[in-house]
Amino acid sequence: MRKTTIMVSAVLCCGIFSQALAQDEKRLNEAVELRQAVMKIIKWNLGPMVGMVKEEIPFDADRFALGAERIAMAGSMIEDASRMDTRQATLASEALPLIWDEFAEYEELSEKLAASSAHLAEVAEGGDPGASRKAFLDMTKDCKACHDKFREKK
Ligand code: HEC
Repeated sequence: MRKTTIMVSAVLCCGIFSQALAQDEKRLNEAVELRQAVMKIIKWNLGPMVGMVKEEIPFDADRFALGAERIAMAGSMIEDASRMDTRQATLASEALPLIWDEFAEYEELSEKLAASSAHLAEVAEGGDPGASRKAFLDMTKDCKACHDKFREKK
């Protein structure tokens, strides 16, 4: 009788334990997906803008301004979307563990991008191709600064 009780408790306990682990894993992987989704939204909007900046496609002021506005919106989310330490997540990620060792610097770089993308959105609203290109190139330096330090090199 006692043996059965112990066994039942052991099963219950391990069941709850592994369920908690699975929930943890789910939560961590969702945080990875969220961070990557923010980046993918930025990339999706950036594509046509790069074409315009490189003069491979005609400059379309409305399209450019819309892309800039969306990037500014997503750009303002990077910091919050990266806050959860996902070093233990099982999904593949290019985020370096260093992010959570030096989160203050990561925050600073996120804020720089948030500011430069907001500036780009403001300039693009004015519709001037030259000024828009310049603000765009300035902003991409802030993407690179963070990737150079905190994203895995391919
Ligand atoms: C403060 C840091 C930071 C800034 C600023 C930043 N990124 Fe990222 N980016 C990351 C990290 C970290 C990853 C890796 C995410 C992962 O795999 O979990 C990443 C991944 C990406 C990816 C790959 C996404 C995927 O999973 O397919 C793209 C594309 C990208 N960034 C574009 C940009 C662009 C464009 C900018 C500037 C407008 C930018 N990023 C600004 C940190 C940053």
